Amino acid sequence: MKLTETLRDRFAQALDGWVDQPQEYAQRVAPARDPRFGDYQANIAMPLEKKLGIKALEIANQLVARLKIDDLCLPPEVLPPGFINLRLRPEVLASLVQSAVVDERLGVGQVAQRLTYVIDYSSPNVAKPMHVGHIRSTVIGDSLARILRFLGHRVISDNHLGDWGTQFGMVIYGYKHFVDAAAFEAAPVAELSRLYRLVQQLISYQAAVQSRPAALELIARATEKLSMTQERAAGNKKAEKEFKAATRAVEEAEQALIDIDKKIARVQSDPLLNQLAIQHSELETRAQGETVKLHQGDPENLALWERFMPLCLSELEQVYRRLSITFDYQYGESFYHAMLEPLVERLTAAGLAKPSDGALCIFVPGFDAPMLVRKADGAFLYATTDLATIEYRQEHFQPDVMLYVVDHRQGEHFNKLFAAARTIGYGHIDMQHIAFGTVTDKEGKPYKTREGSVMGLDYLLDEAVDRAYQVVCDPERLQRANLQMSEVEQRTVSETVGLAAIKYADLCHNRTSDYVFDLNQMVQLEGNTAAYIQYSYARIANILKNAEVSPTNAWASQIGLTLAEPAERDLALNLLQFEDALWSCLDGYYPSQLTAYLYALARQFASFYDLCPVLKADTAELRASRLLLCHATGSTLKLGLSLLGIGVVDRM
Ligand code: ARG
Repeated sequence: MKLTETLRDRFAQALDGWVDQPQEYAQRVAPARDPRFGDYQANIAMPLEKKLGIKALEIANQLVARLKIDDLCLPPEVLPPGFINLRLRPEVLASLVQSAVVDERLGVGQVAQRLTYVIDYSSPNVAKPMHVGHIRSTVIGDSLARILRFLGHRVISDNHLGDWGTQFGMVIYGYKHFVDAAAFEAAPVAELSRLYRLVQQLISYQAAVQSRPAALELIARATEKLSMTQERAAGNKKAEKEFKAATRAVEEAEQALIDIDKKIARVQSDPLLNQLAIQHSELETRAQGETVKLHQGDPENLALWERFMPLCLSELEQVYRRLSITFDYQYGESFYHAMLEPLVERLTAAGLAKPSDGALCIFVPGFDAPMLVRKADGAFLYATTDLATIEYRQEHFQPDVMLYVVDHRQGEHFNKLFAAARTIGYGHIDMQHIAFGTVTDKEGKPYKTREGSVMGLDYLLDEAVDRAYQVVCDPERLQRANLQMSEVEQRTVSETVGLAAIKYADLCHNRTSDYVFDLNQMVQLEGNTAAYIQYSYARIANILKNAEVSPTNAWASQIGLTLAEPAERDLALNLLQFEDALWSCLDGYYPSQLTAYLYALARQFASFYDLCPVLKADTAELRASRLLLCHATGSTLKLGLSLLGIGVVDRM
């Protein structure tokens, strides 16, 4: 039963015929923020005061008189200036928990109107090492897909792989000129990754050398400006401001030169690299040339691409398998390649794409610059592929909503893309950029996986599992907890806890904020971590085991649930709010709503277990009733975690 929704309906009925849009006001019924104000609060009267020209307190009293809610709640309490506080009847609370616990969906309803969602997530650039940012997209996208499906929507997940971009030109160039055949034989993806980084380093070295004179000139100009402002600065506010800005400009210009010189030194101090840089001048253009050849169907480059792709994909697949991530489709950029030319032709014929300086553009209302769909040299762009993707998805899936779970830095791209898509006739699809912030190190800089690691991610997952092992399987801790675990079990537990730590750390932060990647903190058993919630689950499994009950539906149905203690009541109420937590995840697409709920529930359980003896309860009935609460909590934690793509273990 959707409890909140039912309460809202009752209020809407009471408001019907009295105010316009009763449903809208009824939305203001919500779980109480403070238990002193009951279980639910209805802050409806205050916003109606002006409209009805009656004092809020009077409105609240009249509303309560019209309200038919006796079957669910005790008589509502009205407090000045016009708050209405609701308290559920204990027997209602008990029966709702009891009927939820025997339902495999734990009483959670499904959407009335089933929508089709396409979710575009993970989408790494193949042949480049994957990094932490890609975890965010993968994990957020995966949990949204799980939650949406669970709530009854049709979800199509698509990994829009970057498998056709400039990185392939770089890898192909590297392979043709620098490959270490033995290394490629032994570990092909590691070698490709090395080649990518090598070419990348040489390109950025050459760019640094080229930009050095300009950087020097910038310093000279900034210094000159500084000395001018310095003379005027004394005692003059505006000039002082200018002086400060000029100082900063000099500092920035100097820093830029330092960065350039570092890049240059790294190559020049290595005779081999230095020689390569000289031999392969203008490497960027050469690598681009390889990409162009690939796109034009050059047999040699295409053969290399076809050789590299399965190797890279199987490496990616390993990471996904380990994280239990699956996709319905993995239509990478290459999949759309052949559709680009016809698409651009159609758009041009329809007058939707227009020539501009030799290129083709879609002019989008509200944007200064148009969206380029074909460059003057004939090359298509990232955005062109995205348009073709929209067209393809419309044709094959008819989505109502399309979610793009991508780094916030691509915000501009998506804004323009969505506007362009509306311009060319896809206005009926609700397209949303599900942006997320940067994963940073402790200094607040973007987190970098260890230099030299092959697939940054795989190494990171191992590392998390290792830390989890150290914390959870610490011999002293196991002894204290009286847990005898075989080495195999310890490994399984660490794997489950370690991977969960990475996922949860990502999901529990508001997705739009940056967060600090701190492996040590993520695997802790205390605080808002996956390990804490998994531990709560294992603790409950242990209680049930010690009680020698197997929590079947038959067992659960014959128990009389009593909620006499406040801690019991609070726990029951919390359990019923699982459904609200899930629905609220869809409001703006924030999985952190679910993590926050699960953390609160686990804490609520801890205080219940502190205050209310279970195995040693006074009577057999009370013992059974509390065991049922334990079981309901365990099931909710498990289902909730599973919707985040996180598993549990029975012992830890
Ligand atoms: N491959 C891109 C990247 O790693 C992300 C692609 C996102 N999806 C899309 N349809 N543009 O930056």
